[in-house]
Parts: sequence; C-alpha cells; structure tokens
Amino acid sequence: MQKQLNKIAKDTNFFLKKFIKKQNKTELITPMQYALFPGGKKIRSKILIDIGLLFNLDYKKLIIIGSAVECIHAYSLIHDDLPCMDNDPIRRGKASTHVKFGESTAVLAGNSLLTMAFEILSSPSLKVKENIKNNLINKISECSGHLGIAGGQYLDLSFEHKKISKKKIVEMEIKKTGKLFSFCCIAPLILKNKSKKEIKKFENIGAKIGLLFQVADDLIDFKGKSSVAGKRTKKDQKQGKATLISLLGYKNTIKYSQNIILEIKKKTDKYGFKSKKLLETLNYILNRKK
Ligand code: IPE
Ligand code: IPE
Ligand code: MG
Ligand code: MG
Ligand code: MG
Repeated sequence: MQKQLNKIAKDTNFFLKKFIKKQNKTELITPMQYALFPGGKKIRSKILIDIGLLFNLDYKKLIIIGSAVECIHAYSLIHDDLPCMDNDPIRRGKASTHVKFGESTAVLAGNSLLTMAFEILSSPSLKVKENIKNNLINKISECSGHLGIAGGQYLDLSFEHKKISKKKIVEMEIKKTGKLFSFCCIAPLILKNKSKKEIKKFENIGAKIGLLFQVADDLIDFKGKSSVAGKRTKKDQKQGKATLISLLGYKNTIKYSQNIILEIKKKTDKYGFKSKKLLETLNYILNRKK
C-alpha cells in the first residue's frame, strides 16, 4: 500500500510542480507550494485510481484529476487550521501555513489552491471532451462549496459544545470530508459517460468512504500520537467537537466503521477481483496511524 501511495504522490507532485512552473511567478506561490509539497498521503487520489480500475481508466488522466482534488484538499487544510477554525499550529509535521506565513497570506494561498483545481481541470493538460470537462468541474465545485466541504466545515464549527444527534454528525462528516471522496468515486464514471443512476450509486459509495475516512481521523485524534499523526491529537474533545466517539464511545465507533467497510464491500463485490485494491485501501484507511 505504502509503495503505491508513494508512486501516486510522486506522479501527482510531478504534475503539480510542472503545472505551477508554467504559470507566472507571484508571492503567493511560496505559501501555496508550502501547503502542497511534500504533501499528505494522497488517499483521495488512491480512491480515484481504485475506482478507475473498475472501469479500466487511463492512469495519467486520473493523476491530473487527482492533482486538482489534492489542491482542494490542501486548501481545506490551510483554512481548517486557521485560528478562526480549529486553530492548529502543526500540519503534516511542520508549522501550519498561517503560522509560517501569517493569516491573511494563508487565506489567500488557500483561495488560490481552490481555484487552481479549476485551472487544472479546464486546462489543455486534461485531454477529455468539453462536455466531460464541464461535468467534472461542475461536480468538483459542488463538492467543495456550501453543499460540500465549506458547508460541512460550517456545521462542524456550529456543532461545537452542543449535543448533536448521530444523524446530524454523520451529515456533517459526509459534507466536510465525504463529498470530495464522492467526487473521486464519480469522476471515473463521468469520464466513461455512465448513466446518472450509476453515478448516483458511486456518489453514495464515495460518501461512505469519506465518512469512514473522517471517523478514522476522529479515532486518530482520540488515541493517536501527535508525533506519528503529524498534527496535534486529543484536541477534538477539548474543542467540544461533535464526533461519533463523543456520542457512541471509542469501541462502538470502531464497530460502526467496520460496518461501513462491510456496506461498501457489498456494493462493490460484483466487480470481482478488480475491487480488491479498493478493499485494501478501505482497510488501510481504518487501520492507519496518520
Ligand atoms: C486530513 O486529511 C483532514 C481530514 C479530512 C480528516 P488527510 O489525513 O487525508 O491529510 P493528508 O493529506 O494525508 O495530510
Ligand atoms: C477536517 O477535519 C476536514 C476538512 C475538510 C479539512 P478535521 O478538522 O478533523 O481535520 P484535522 O484533524 O484537523 O486534520
Ligand atoms: Mg476541522
Ligand atoms: Mg482540524
Ligand atoms: Mg481530525
């Protein structure tokens, strides 16, 4: 797994560096690069490639789409760490972008990474038909705004120090994290011109994968070590975050996440041996320490 993730990271970073190099230099490039490189696990790109495998898609195209996703993810982390949000000084084992460059620069570098995703998808680097490009940009936008990451982050913050139902916590986690995974699961189907019904099915699978990912992140916060995770741990409880752990307890949350894997497995088993990689990634997501 780590070998595959390393290869994806290498190919993604190569593409992003080349893409940035082609643009005019500005002062924001340095903080943007700081947030992008060497970067994180690239798990969203891995899911994109695992689903791509079910539909025999071209790896290179998926790396370009994954690069756009990683830009949006990096933006969301810069903003998530700001003092007005989670106020976290450490990210990926180094000072958070706002600690290193100041708050206003971090906000603007974040904005620029978000829009860079659209620059990438609409650029000639991604060689797909115009209507497919349009669909990809439409979906990734939807997953990032008020219906996705931004909306979910709003809920996350407004739920602090409140008693929140399981249904509402799940909705928040699916929005703030699940929606971008949904995009990763439907992008291969958009490329293959699949039916709306089929796309909907994979949107749901993506939401479940994203939920699993966020619950695992919450478990890492609860039990994990800061030095391994590369970010502060044991902070969700202090900040009064509404998580499934705060509601159901640690052990029940692990059971809950194991159940999510079974649900996803049921929906992807029909793809036979081709879904093996995806299943491996799901187990990695739950058992990871960072
Ligand atoms: C952390 O995401 C933020 C969440 C959505 C939980 P990752 O754990 O994917 O972060 P990196 O990219 O590997 O650092
Ligand atoms: C972040 O969730 C979700 C985002 C969309 C950025 P967290 O706030 O739990 O992520 P970490 O723990 O700071 O990485
Ligand atoms: Mg947060
Ligand atoms: Mg946070
Ligand atoms: Mg967290």
